[in-house]
Amino acid sequence: MALIAILPGDGIGPEVTAEAVRVLDALSLDLTFEEALVGGAAYHATGHPLPAETLDLAKRADAILFGAVGDPSCDALERSLRPEQAILGLRKELALFANLRPAKLFPGLEDASALKPEVAAAIDMVIVRELNGDVYFGEKGFRTNAAGNREGYDVMSYDEAEVLRIAHVGFRTAQKRGGKLCSVDKANVLETSQLWRDVVIEVSALYPDVALTHMYVDNAAMQLVRNPGQFDVIVTGNLFGDILSDQASMCAGSIGMLPSASLDANGKGLYEPIHGSAPDIAGQGKANPCATILSAAMLLRHSLGLDAAADRIEAAVGKALTDGARTADLGGSLSTRAMGDAVLAALEGLKA
Ligand code: NAD
Ligand code: IPM
Ligand code: MN
Repeated sequence: MALIAILPGDGIGPEVTAEAVRVLDALSLDLTFEEALVGGAAYHATGHPLPAETLDLAKRADAILFGAVGDPSCDALERSLRPEQAILGLRKELALFANLRPAKLFPGLEDASALKPEVAAAIDMVIVRELNGDVYFGEKGFRTNAAGNREGYDVMSYDEAEVLRIAHVGFRTAQKRGGKLCSVDKANVLETSQLWRDVVIEVSALYPDVALTHMYVDNAAMQLVRNPGQFDVIVTGNLFGDILSDQASMCAGSIGMLPSASLDANGKGLYEPIHGSAPDIAGQGKANPCATILSAAMLLRHSLGLDAAADRIEAAVGKALTDGARTADLGGSLSTRAMGDAVLAALEGLKA
């Protein structure tokens, strides 16, 4: 019996998480679910975005399914109390350093992509994003500088051990796929990136079967829309990976389609859509639940070793889409619940 922590969070988080739980339930696996508050919802109820009970559940669980955090009513709070600190805290406390963000275009979604259909059709890649370091976790603050001006600062740094462990994940991911790894950095300007590049090159000696290339992040952003089919696996830092994965999502049809896995060194993981709490559509039943449903599939594969069940979820999402099921972000009019129903119906059909 595996324990799955369900952390729905804010905005559309609870709406999309509910659909993913329905899909997991329908598979009749040996799972128990335990839910806890996180983000703005937790702050409003307890005064803290990541209460001790929530962190404890996340630590006890075999895997975590996470919705999204972020609540405009919390934007004026001091940073340590803001909803986003909950996801950052979980990633750090649980040492979830390896973030896998697969981006592929499901057949039929060519028209939803911002790219020309033939360019979009070729996207099938994984962004391996480092998740425990970079400018996200450096020293930060406000000060008055020598000129008497207010100044905000966030220190960007990586140490070699951090780069080494994510580089290995990048190479191993490429080995299991097309054998191509593109390391994305800004080594022409940043010392942090120079160290990144040096360490990735050192690690590459252990993976002669993987073709390693390097690309500056500005060029990578351009290449992603010019010809996303050229990428197999990208390995990059926390900030660049955050930005490039949102961009990749729109190449693949919608930000509502991209799942993610955030893994520690032992296969424990947190699984979440790459999108946020979408306050602009929250509470309206408009959100696309596919990214979260696909995150549940990643959970089964990466943390529980249930590959066949994961394959079935992915096939059901594919079938629902080829049958024409579409939420508004994909150019359709289905509600979040109706999209979940379509995936469940496809799952039933696949059983038969
Ligand atoms: P967002 O991803 O929440 O939304 C960006 C745009 O995409 C919005 O127009 C939204 O309606 C749309 N969108 C997002 N998910 C969708 C879905 N499943 N279906 C249909 N449309 C979808 O990004 P944002 O607006 O920049 O941020 C909103 C809040 O979410 C902020 O507080 C931010 O910090 C937070 N956030 C949290 C996470 C997380 O929990 N991991 C990730 C990203 C942003
Ligand atoms: C994401 C989000 C988070 C990030 C925020 C909410 C801290 O944008 O998961 O992509 O920047 O990592
Ligand atoms: Mn993001």
